[in-house]
Amino acid sequence: MPSLLDKGRTHDCGSLRASDDGRDVVLFGWVHRQRDRGGRIFVLLRDRAGITQVVFGPDIDAAAHELAAGLRAEYCVAIAGKVISRGDNANPDMETGAIEVEGHEVEIFSASEPTPINIADDERLDALETTRLRYRYLDLRRPSLQRNFILRSKLATLTRQTLAEGGFLELETPYMVKYTPGGARNFLVPSRLSPGKFYALAESPQIFKQLFMVSGFDKYFQITRCFRDEDLRNDRQPEFTQIDIEMSFATPDRLFVEMEALMTRVWRELLGVELEAPFPRMPWAEAMARYGNDKPDVRFGLELQDITDLVSSSSFTVFASAEYVKGICVPPEHAAHFSRGRLDKLTSFVKQREHGGAKGLAWAKIKEDGSWQSPIAKVLGAELCDQIAAKMGAAPGSTLLIVADDFHTTHTALSALRLELRDSLDLLAGAPAWRFLWVTSFPLFESSDRGWVSSHHPFTSPRVEDIPLLDEDPGKVLAQAYDLVLNGNEIGGGSIRIHRSDVQAKIFEVLGLSKEEVEQKFAFLLEAFRYGPPPHGGIAFGLDRIAMLMCGAESLRDVIAFPKTSRGQDLMTGCPSGADDEQLAELFITHRPLPGAD
Ligand code: AMO
Ligand code: AMP
Repeated sequence: MPSLLDKGRTHDCGSLRASDDGRDVVLFGWVHRQRDRGGRIFVLLRDRAGITQVVFGPDIDAAAHELAAGLRAEYCVAIAGKVISRGDNANPDMETGAIEVEGHEVEIFSASEPTPINIADDERLDALETTRLRYRYLDLRRPSLQRNFILRSKLATLTRQTLAEGGFLELETPYMVKYTPGGARNFLVPSRLSPGKFYALAESPQIFKQLFMVSGFDKYFQITRCFRDEDLRNDRQPEFTQIDIEMSFATPDRLFVEMEALMTRVWRELLGVELEAPFPRMPWAEAMARYGNDKPDVRFGLELQDITDLVSSSSFTVFASAEYVKGICVPPEHAAHFSRGRLDKLTSFVKQREHGGAKGLAWAKIKEDGSWQSPIAKVLGAELCDQIAAKMGAAPGSTLLIVADDFHTTHTALSALRLELRDSLDLLAGAPAWRFLWVTSFPLFESSDRGWVSSHHPFTSPRVEDIPLLDEDPGKVLAQAYDLVLNGNEIGGGSIRIHRSDVQAKIFEVLGLSKEEVEQKFAFLLEAFRYGPPPHGGIAFGLDRIAMLMCGAESLRDVIAFPKTSRGQDLMTGCPSGADDEQLAELFITHRPLPGAD
C-alpha cells in the first residue's frame, strides 16, 4: 500500500468544519489523546493548527481500528478518512468540534516513548520548568506555546512588511564586533587568527546603524539578535531580538508617527485591537514624580504624593531630614486590606534591596473623624497630620503609605509598592488593556562612582538648548531620548544622535574619556562623522518583550524558542560547557583554577 506521506495531507488539524461533511481527507499530526470507548476508539489528532477528533470502529474499517488500538500519546501518524458532521452532537469547546473524521486508514510514521511532559495537559501543566527546558522540543509542542510562536512569527512578518512599505531598507550588521565600552556588558569571543585578541558579540547594532546613515541609506531596519552579558530576569535574556531602526533627518515627532503606525497596525491585524494614536507623552521627570518609575504602568492610579516641603520642619526627624518624603494614598474601599500584619509585610517589602531598600514605611489609617491611627501620629501632631492628609488627597478610610529617603530609594520603593498594590488589590480589574506611553527627556548622564556615565549611550544627543549646560552642570542636561512603554514595560528605546563632532567630543570629555581612549575606541566613528553625516536618530524595540505582552505571557521564556535559564544555561544542550586543552591552546588561552577549586 502506498504511504499516506506520498498522498500528502489535504487539510491541517484545525480547519475542518461542518461544510466539509462527506469529504475524504488525509491528516498528519501527533496523537493528543487516545481513548477506547466500548468498541469505538477516539483519537484527538493535533498539529500546529489545531486538534481534530478521529473515530475508529470495526464497522468503519477493521484494520484501521486495530492499528488505532495501539496508538499512544505523541505518536506521529497519518490518518485518512471521511469527514462526518456531528450535527447536534457538536463539541463547542473545539474549533473543529462540528465534525469528526471516520478513520479508514492509519499509518504510524513513528512511535513515541511516554513523554516527560504531558502535552495534552497544556492548560494545567505541572511539569517543572527545568523539565520543560530540558525537553524543550516537547514543551514547544504544547498548543499554548505553539500559539505564542505563531503570533511571534506573524509579528516579525508584519513588522518587516510595514517597515519595508514605509521605505526602510533591511540591512545586516556584524555580530562579531569591536568591544566598545559604555553599553551593556559584552560577551567576548577569542580570535584564533589574532592570538590574544577578542571580538565582542554586538550588544546592539548601534554604531553600525549610525554608519549606515553616514553612508546615505536614509532609513534602515533590521530584526536582529543582540547579546548582553547581564544578570537575567523574566524580562531579560542574554540573547534577544531587537526591531532595530534608524532614520536620517529624523525628529522625535517624525519618528514617533512612523513607530505609532507600526504599533497600531500590528495591534489591529494581530489582536484586532484599535489603538488610539498619537500615544501620550510624558517627560521623564514627570514619570518619576508621579510614578517613581521611568516606565510607569499608567493603567491605574495610586500616584505618588510629595509631602517633602510640608514635613521639612516637623519634629519627626526621619521626615525632616530626608531628601524626599513621598507616599501613596490608598482609597477607602481597600481599608480592610491593611491589617497590622499586612502593614508589617509591606514594611518588609519596601526594605528589601530589590525594592529599593528603604529604611522603613510610615503608615497611617484615617479614622472616621479624620484623626490618624499611626505610629507617627503623635510625633507629627494633629495639625500636620491634617495637612498631610489633605495634600495626599486622603478621606476617612484611606490608608497612607509613606517613605522618606534619598531620590533613588524613595522612588524605587514607592514604585515597587505601587505595583505590589496593583496586584494585591486587583487594581487592573476593568482597566484598559493596552496603555502605550512615550517617556521623553531623560537625563543625559547619571552620576556613578566613576563620575558621569551615559544614561543611554554616548551618542545620544542632548537637547540643543541644554548644550551650554554640558560645562556648567552635566547632571541637568536632558537628552533627546525616548522610551516606548507599554503597561509598565519598556518595549523600546532610542534617541536623536549627535552628528556634530564638537558636541560628541564634549560628551566624551564629560564622561571622562581621554583623547587617547576616545581615539582607541571610537576613532572610526568620529572619523566617519568628518564626512558629512546627516542628522539622524532611531529606536530599537524588544521584539521578545512585545511578543510576550501580546501573548499575555509572564516570561520571555514563553516567547523565545530556546531560552536560557536565569543562570544563563541551556538545559537541553547543556551549555555553557567546557573546552578541551587543545581548543584552548589554539586560542592561546590557559586555565586559571576556579575559585574554591583544588
Ligand atoms: P536598549 O538597550 O534600550 O537600546 O534596547 C532596546 C530594547 O531592547 C529590549 N531589551 C531586551 N529584551 C530582552 N532581554 C534583554 N536583555 C534586553 N535588553 C534590552 C528592551 C529595550 O527597550 N541601541 C539602542 C537603541 C537605540 O538607541 O536606537 C538600544 O539597544 O525592550
Ligand atoms: P521609628 O522612629 O524607627 O520607630 O519609626 C517610626 C515609623 O516610621 C515606623 O513605622 C517606621 O517603619 C517608619 N519609618 C522609619 N524610617 C522611615 C523612612 N525612612 N521612611 C518612612 N518611614 C520610616
